[in-house]
Amino acid sequence: MIEPFRIHAVEPLRMVTPEHRAQAIAEAGYNLFSLRAEDVLIDLLTDSGTGAMSRDQWAAVQHGDESYAGSPSWYLFRDAVTELFPFRHIIPTHQGRAAEKILFSVVGGPGKFVPNNTHFDTTRANVESTGAEAVDLVIAEGRDPRSRHPFKGNLDVDALEAFVRRVGAENVPVVMVTVTNNSGGGQPVSLANLRAVREVCNRYGLALFLDSCRFAENAWFIREREEGQGDREVADIVRDMAALADGMTMSAKKDPLANIGGWLACNDDDLAEACRSVLILTEGFPTYGGLAGRDLEAIAQGLKEAVSHEYLRYRTRSTAYLGEALEKLGVPVVVPIGGHAVYIDAGTMLAHIPPLEYPGQSLAVALYGTGGIRSCEIGSVMFGRRPDGTEQAAAMELVRLAIPRRTYTQSHIDYVIEVCERVLEDASRLRGLKIVHEPRQLRHFTARFEPLG
Ligand code: F0G
Repeated sequence: MIEPFRIHAVEPLRMVTPEHRAQAIAEAGYNLFSLRAEDVLIDLLTDSGTGAMSRDQWAAVQHGDESYAGSPSWYLFRDAVTELFPFRHIIPTHQGRAAEKILFSVVGGPGKFVPNNTHFDTTRANVESTGAEAVDLVIAEGRDPRSRHPFKGNLDVDALEAFVRRVGAENVPVVMVTVTNNSGGGQPVSLANLRAVREVCNRYGLALFLDSCRFAENAWFIREREEGQGDREVADIVRDMAALADGMTMSAKKDPLANIGGWLACNDDDLAEACRSVLILTEGFPTYGGLAGRDLEAIAQGLKEAVSHEYLRYRTRSTAYLGEALEKLGVPVVVPIGGHAVYIDAGTMLAHIPPLEYPGQSLAVALYGTGGIRSCEIGSVMFGRRPDGTEQAAAMELVRLAIPRRTYTQSHIDYVIEVCERVLEDASRLRGLKIVHEPRQLRHFTARFEPLG
């Protein structure tokens, strides 16, 4: 397979020496988020907002209309969203977490519980900041990096039902399902599982919302892996996913192929009214919600490209190319390979480093020092601090190599594979880290570390 595009505008890559990198990471307190992007060669920190827009998206940017209210760009955006997600109310936000903030500030609060397959970090923080509790109920296979279950993002429906009975349906304002399950390895959720979750929600009168950032990759995996889906259009699968839900949150920085944007959608009129009131306070007027008209147009065009089979085949195949190469080298990775990223199982690769000495962070620092690659720890640094202030090891110690959309070529990825091989050879020499400073919430973004030993 080759990249189904050619390059139309180029950005230079910045080559830096190993000595420069050693100094840069020390100054950054061994936190990859604190590096200057100029000091990074291949940036796999995130697939969020880092993709390359198409010629047609840039043309759409020029077409943007910046009227404060009722802009034609808003109607284009709304129609592109409802073409795939036909919810009654579409509430544009500047990115995904703004949609989460609005939703949970309306439905959350002390004594409430929000189940999810696995909350992403901002989703969890937005639930918890209202005093509600965020509960992860992914199936057991979803916590096992080596299980080859085709839908490891599935929510455990028996556990959901037992949970709802225990805490009382009146205390569960919404059930969330994250597609694909980012924190669990970018693993998809099947249509069958969504239907089963829907049935539980129907039985107890609960609302079901999708955290839909990577909806197109999820739908592609359904097409590839779920019985009876192989001949279908991805757009139709997406509409089936939406039809099972009562609403959604979205970060347009992922599958919608934009650099900024998001939305909240729902069918409930009262909920929408309450959310729009918060929107006007915190984001903007309901026909732009924190976005410029040009951003709304870029998203509208991106949504059309996101469900292209040619694009999704390339997207998932090129991510698997990296994952399969690492597997062949003996680097333990989460299998099956997810859609937007390859997750290295740092807990296994660096088994000599205990979880609370952060093997994932140690590996991420080594990938940067060795080859200028920026990755992201998804383990005890990200999830170890509990709301009550105690520290506890995360379920898995992962390092995510997130692949920006349409941005790097196969030879860049071949370089990443060589750097991983080099780091693997030296793995037994890597040491853990300790945290010397951390904020009260979402510590992984700004914590500072010192190497141990
Ligand atoms: N939900 C999921 C599953 C996400 O992966 C993200 C962001 C969000 C919500 C929040 O969206 O960034 O637009 O506010 N994930 C990025 C990542 C940051 O690197 O995985 P946002």
